[in-house]
Amino acid sequence: MSKRTIMAAGNWKMNKTPGETKEFVNALKGLVAGSNSEVVIGVPSVCIPAATEVAKGSNIKVAAQNVHFEASGAYTGEVSCAMLKELGVEYVIIGHSERREYFGETNEMINKKARAILDAGMLPIICCGETLTQREQGVTAEHVRYQIKIALLGLSADEVSKLVIAYEPIWAIGTGKTATDEQAEEVCAVIRQLLVELYGNDVAEKTRILYGGSVNAGNAKALFSMPNIDGGLVGGASLKLDAFEQIVKHDA
Ligand code: 13P
Repeated sequence: MSKRTIMAAGNWKMNKTPGETKEFVNALKGLVAGSNSEVVIGVPSVCIPAATEVAKGSNIKVAAQNVHFEASGAYTGEVSCAMLKELGVEYVIIGHSERREYFGETNEMINKKARAILDAGMLPIICCGETLTQREQGVTAEHVRYQIKIALLGLSADEVSKLVIAYEPIWAIGTGKTATDEQAEEVCAVIRQLLVELYGNDVAEKTRILYGGSVNAGNAKALFSMPNIDGGLVGGASLKLDAFEQIVKHDA
């Protein structure tokens, strides 16, 4: 079993209004109070005030799903780290495959975002993962290593030991086709080995590496018990109270 605290992180994507957020977080608070897992919900930016207000005093932490790396200025439609921090955001998901595919997010941008998030006193959840073609061509490990290596450029050992990496194979996202425990473990172990190479054993032992891609109430326990998997980044199942509760309490 991992010495690291398991994280159950929801990524709501573009779902739920501020009103629905209040209702959901209010109900979730009671369901996950006292859990052994660190509970995080990644909500749309306009739902952040509702989420942090209702989650106050509970063990639920709020994540943003994106941020701009510049401090301020003429970036129409964007949100800065200072804005998120002031609202009580603790984590920011960056480099999600949907943001890479639909919004042109590059590894270099992800690296700049990680720097800005850490400077603002928050922690990034850095996503990586291969397409089905890359898996079939046998380049999964090199692709993921490349993504993470660029994303971490210039970050200190202390910073890397606190941030979170999420391995999300693109072919497993929203498809109901979960990676097997062994497939997920294999790539999370590759990422941990990369951390050993870049930062040494101590850091690599501390950094949490999550698996994401069709995590549900039925498969969370087995996935989270793999030696190099420290929890999950959960899409669809994090929108349902009972499913997310069960994922948080996978060890109960
Ligand atoms: P699903 O759990 O819906 O497959 O989504 C995974 C994901 O993209 C989380 O960031």
